[in-house]
Amino acid sequence: MALQATSLLPSSVSIYKDGKSSASIKETCFFGVSVSSSNNLKPEFNYSSIKCKELRKRGFSASIIRAQTATTTPAISESAPEAKKTLRKGNVIVTGASSGLGLATAKALAETGQWHVIMACRNFLKAEKAAKSAGMSKESHTVMHLDLASLDSVRQFVDNFRRSGMPLDVLVCNAAVYLPTAKEPTFTAEGFELSVGTNHLGHFLLSRLLLEDLKQSDYSSKRLIIVGSITGNTNTLAGNVPPKANLGDLRGLAGGLNGVNSSPMIDGGEFDGAKAYKDSKVCNMLTMQEFHRRYHEETGITFASLYPGCIAETGLFREHVPLFRLLFPPFQKYITKGYVSEEEAGKRLAQVVSEPYLTKSGVYWSWNKNSASFENQLSKEASDAEKARKVWEVSEKLVGLAPEDN
Ligand SMILES: NC(=O)c1ccc[n+]([C@@H]2O[C@H](COP(=O)([O-])OP(=O)(O)OC[C@H]3O[C@@H](n4cnc5c(N)ncnc54)[C@H](OP(=O)(O)O)[C@@H]3O)[C@@H](O)[C@H]2O)c1
Repeated sequence: MALQATSLLPSSVSIYKDGKSSASIKETCFFGVSVSSSNNLKPEFNYSSIKCKELRKRGFSASIIRAQTATTTPAISESAPEAKKTLRKGNVIVTGASSGLGLATAKALAETGQWHVIMACRNFLKAEKAAKSAGMSKESHTVMHLDLASLDSVRQFVDNFRRSGMPLDVLVCNAAVYLPTAKEPTFTAEGFELSVGTNHLGHFLLSRLLLEDLKQSDYSSKRLIIVGSITGNTNTLAGNVPPKANLGDLRGLAGGLNGVNSSPMIDGGEFDGAKAYKDSKVCNMLTMQEFHRRYHEETGITFASLYPGCIAETGLFREHVPLFRLLFPPFQKYITKGYVSEEEAGKRLAQVVSEPYLTKSGVYWSWNKNSASFENQLSKEASDAEKARKVWEVSEKLVGLAPEDN
């Protein structure tokens, strides 16, 4: 039996400038959490409860880890947790670590003393200040410039990172933009619609290029994590609120999403900022699975995605109308109970980066109301292997990679 604890709030509310008119819902979206209390959930041996004590000591609130096999995800093989081959700290790149989930994750990892965090951010100064105000020590992190809305910047970042001489053990693709109230599309440096261009294409190029670096790492558990979202999954209540994610036959993506001789939307439709975000998250989740299919067996790298819960107070909602930003957090806290704090969400993502019990590849993690992780099911579209292959092939052309090129 699946219990859905989801959240609903209009993502676009019209208010006249004089403030007299009542709010009207134009388009709604859910940001919630899908909680499963399936009968087939079983505690993961005693190991989980032992692990749980360690986690609590280290400030992680996860308790017994429960797994629900995702029947719709590709064939999954589990990397055996091995003893660490090196005693050095792990190096993890986190994109968009200047605020919200990325910053909270960087902080959680830095605080363990076992990770050096490369904060890959478009605003260098903001990231430095954010790290300082989060109390991250100077030795715990390096800020490096990365603007995912420019493919040149992505390539430059990879060059700079390689010049630093640091090995790469984990890559976290976290940054995103969400433009639910935009009337017209805006574009990346190369002319792709901004949400898909940044959230998907920028990360696609970054992760394809850095795959080589991950392969070369001697760290015991190498991982590539891409942050997904419940809003892209139409097997949830949240994902069923219009505008729903739908990549269609990818005609807009194949045309370059430029809004001139092709639609700015992946499915070729009219521009809709909320849908573009959801579509980009479907691409993120499909990309993770395609990486898994192509590279997990050969490289042993863990490829995973996750939905950390509704972090209602992050900058993701900065483009929303003030009324939404005011009501969304209490609505999530008290009505849907899907709310998670930035701190808690950061600890969840940090678990996916570092914990030995989360090494399974090709999966999409979620957390239940007790903050226990479980393997969630992706929607039909977000787990469509043929679509994942097509998105991969079209995307590599758009970002200028020859097939299987690195
Ligand atoms: N908030 C939620 O409820 C929720 C739920 C599910 C999933 N997520 C996912 O969680 C991830 C983080 O979102 P968040 O909620 O933490 O939002 P956030 O606070 O707005 O963080 C987004 C980060 O992305 C960065 N970014 C945006 N455009 C960029 C670009 N062109 N190049 C490099 N970095 C860029 C931002 O940089 P600046 O600081 O310079 O703006 C910021 O650091 C996203 O993938 C989002 O889809 C969030």
